[in-house]
Amino acid sequence: MAEVQASKGVSILFVGDLVGGIGRRTLLECLPLLRERLHPTFVVVNGENVAGGLGITPKAAEQLFAGGVDAITLGNHTYHRREIYPYLDSEPRILRPANFLRSQPGHGVCMVESAQGARLGVVNLSGNLYLRAGRSAFTEIEAALGELEGVDQILVDMHAEATSEKVAMGWHLDGRVTAVVGTHTHVPTADARVLPGGTAYITDVGMTGPRGGVIGVKREQAIESLLTQMPVRFETSEEDPWLMAVLIRCSVTERLRADSIEQILMPRP
Ligand SMILES: [Fe+2]
Ligand SMILES: [Fe+2]
Repeated sequence: MAEVQASKGVSILFVGDLVGGIGRRTLLECLPLLRERLHPTFVVVNGENVAGGLGITPKAAEQLFAGGVDAITLGNHTYHRREIYPYLDSEPRILRPANFLRSQPGHGVCMVESAQGARLGVVNLSGNLYLRAGRSAFTEIEAALGELEGVDQILVDMHAEATSEKVAMGWHLDGRVTAVVGTHTHVPTADARVLPGGTAYITDVGMTGPRGGVIGVKREQAIESLLTQMPVRFETSEEDPWLMAVLIRCSVTERLRADSIEQILMPRP
């Protein structure tokens, strides 16, 4: 009963891949408005593109935590910036995919607690199709969930290229976790729903960054690269920044279940 009480009115705001400084600023400007409107208990963001479009630095992570972010997930760009390696080991609230090799820096599971005592477990996974992850997401998730026994809610960020892997993970975990959210493609999908077992699901949350580019990159550069088939230096676009996120409202009667998932797509104020 104590567990159900702790879960009362709990909600999770999950924000899709922050792209560049523009993505970080968009999040930090939108967050006060979203707090006022939605009162999220927890805020989790994917930060794999926050440092100039690739990777994350300790400074950027600290800015996100100072802005009220509870946990940060990453993905295939985790190791782009070397200065993050020791930070990934020492800061419990930043995650790289749990199914990377054990020898790689960092960890893929954490638990955060709200002021009211609700406990949220967060798991970061990487898909195996077209992405470099040393171990299977589908077998490694069991070990990850084993680390989170007794928590009130679990959010899984499945960072993957292929929609099939993400849909399959949603079904695989339906009824066992509060939410499975997809990231990486930077384009939001229109399939947010609560699966029959009570797990909130979306194939891709989208990105928090410039909608005027090509998944974050200046569009002229992306088009030139495709036209010429030659190497082009990519820079982060600054045009038309939006925040893309989902709000998951957790069940008030059952642990590890969602009542709803709502897509939030808003331009920078
Ligand atoms: Fe990304
Ligand atoms: Fe990615």
